[in-house]
Amino acid sequence: MGKICVFNGPNLNLLGRREPEHYGHRTLADIETEVHRLAGEYGVAVDFRQTNHEGVLLDWIAELTERDVLIINAGAWTHTSVALRDAISGVKALAVEIHLSNIHAREAFREHSAIAAVCAGQICGLGESSYYLALRYAAEVLCRAAENHEERRC
Ligand code: DQA
Repeated sequence: MGKICVFNGPNLNLLGRREPEHYGHRTLADIETEVHRLAGEYGVAVDFRQTNHEGVLLDWIAELTERDVLIINAGAWTHTSVALRDAISGVKALAVEIHLSNIHAREAFREHSAIAAVCAGQICGLGESSYYLALRYAAEVLCRAAENHEERRC
């Protein structure tokens, strides 16, 4: 069975005190706790990480395989990083782009996502629920794949 990775990019470590009008009051640790709780309900394991260093994120992505599902909040790199797009398309892991805020309803520079075209879909604007809904989808994808390979059902 593949794995689910939730990777977070720059400044998401500041959640809770960072522009709460856009990002809410929950910390990333709060969100991680809920992600693990839900993952337990779905019978899947999640690797949840955050980094402020783009090369570190690229290295983490390079370790994924086509069996894995990547849930990614790339923060500001969403709007700037061709390297990130290339890393995601390079490993062929199914990827879901997520954002707490609605990137289409803010500054014009946030509307463009460099990674949207190499992701299966995008969930944004739903606050922390963007994480939980993406997790639900990722769990379904992995469980369906496991059933097809006659592995343990989730
Ligand atoms: C964000 C949106 C980005 O535009 C911003 O740079 C972030 C957070 C979000 O989760 O809403 O850092 O990805």
